[in-house]
Amino acid sequence: MEKPYSVAIIGAGQIVKIHLEAIRKTDRSRVTAIADLVESRAREWAAEHGATAYTDYRDMVLKEKPDIVIINLPHFLHRPAAIWCAEQGCHVLLEKPMALNAAECMEIIEAGKRNGVLIAIGHMQQFFAEHVAAKALIQSGELGELVEISDRRCGAYFRESRPEWFLDKERSGGGVVINLGSHSIDRIQWMTGSRIVKVKAKLTHYGQRGNVEGSGSLFMETSEGVPVHATIGGYDNAPENETVLLFTKGTLRIRQRKELLLSKGGAYEPVPVPKLADPFIGQWTALLDAVEHGTELTISGEYGLSVLEVVEAAYRSHETGTEQPVLSTSATNSKIKPQACAWEN
Ligand SMILES: NC(=O)c1ccc[n+]([C@@H]2O[C@H](COP(=O)([O-])OP(=O)(O)OC[C@H]3O[C@@H](n4cnc5c(N)ncnc54)[C@H](O)[C@@H]3O)[C@@H](O)[C@H]2O)c1
Repeated sequence: MEKPYSVAIIGAGQIVKIHLEAIRKTDRSRVTAIADLVESRAREWAAEHGATAYTDYRDMVLKEKPDIVIINLPHFLHRPAAIWCAEQGCHVLLEKPMALNAAECMEIIEAGKRNGVLIAIGHMQQFFAEHVAAKALIQSGELGELVEISDRRCGAYFRESRPEWFLDKERSGGGVVINLGSHSIDRIQWMTGSRIVKVKAKLTHYGQRGNVEGSGSLFMETSEGVPVHATIGGYDNAPENETVLLFTKGTLRIRQRKELLLSKGGAYEPVPVPKLADPFIGQWTALLDAVEHGTELTISGEYGLSVLEVVEAAYRSHETGTEQPVLSTSATNSKIKPQACAWEN
């Protein structure tokens, strides 16, 4: 590598700080420009990182010609921004959820292919230390057969500090299911190396603001035939973030960012979790490795699409009141190569 990769950031809202920190802590890339419609946001972060501020991201990309862009925009802008940046020859790290629906994801994937650039999706939970350790334990086979998974993610979704667009279905694609549920779907698929293939979902819409769902109860099944129950709650509920995997020879309990516990029939015992870099650094490093060395990208556009297909099936299920298949080519391929990289660099 002759010079660090140049990076331009599109959208300087709530999540931008963590991406900027991740880039600052690696020496393989540098932020050259930051764009936000709200000029003061772009200026504040640009000043702190020695970058140039813009209000128009197209203007920024045309002038700065970055190697990579990070897109942190409201969900309805993911598709147009990612496609346009791919057309300019930039690799793209696009925040999750990949887009509003599967059709939009396909358009983004096609744009990446057409232009020979990588599309990575911000499924950064694959880089949580306790998820990496749990995946290794699952793969070792020492826990026997996986028989059931339950996943809970609850927290005050309708809080004052949440930007308005998140609560407007047209701009966000939905509420807790598309936004928080996409993390649950990702961690279940990634840790087990499977795909969700069926969903029966019941949602509720009791939020005091906006028109998006505030809870989702998802009964699902993986490509290996394992039943999964995911609860996503956004009302005034106790904060919870937990995945429990039941095996024939034990139970794994993950409390995200806190601990990994294992029972082999008795009380839960903590499992030592090797320390890893911050997940946003892990995610960024994975993208740089894929760009530079062509290594497998487990957070590829195809993978992001597989998550959106489950979200879409959940919304269809709620509307029809029936179980829905996940309409996916990735599901049928998952047993062959569950984390296939879409890109050959
Ligand atoms: N990985 C995670 O855990 C995680 C956490 C939070 C948010 N996110 C995702 O990150 C993305 C951004 O979320 P956020 O919480 O930062 O939202 P936000 O509303 O705080 O930030 C979005 C920013 O985009 C700017 N913007 C809107 N339209 C623009 C345009 N046309 N050009 C330039 N800037 C424009 C807004 O002014 C705002 O500053 C979403 O996809 C969200 O789901 C991911």
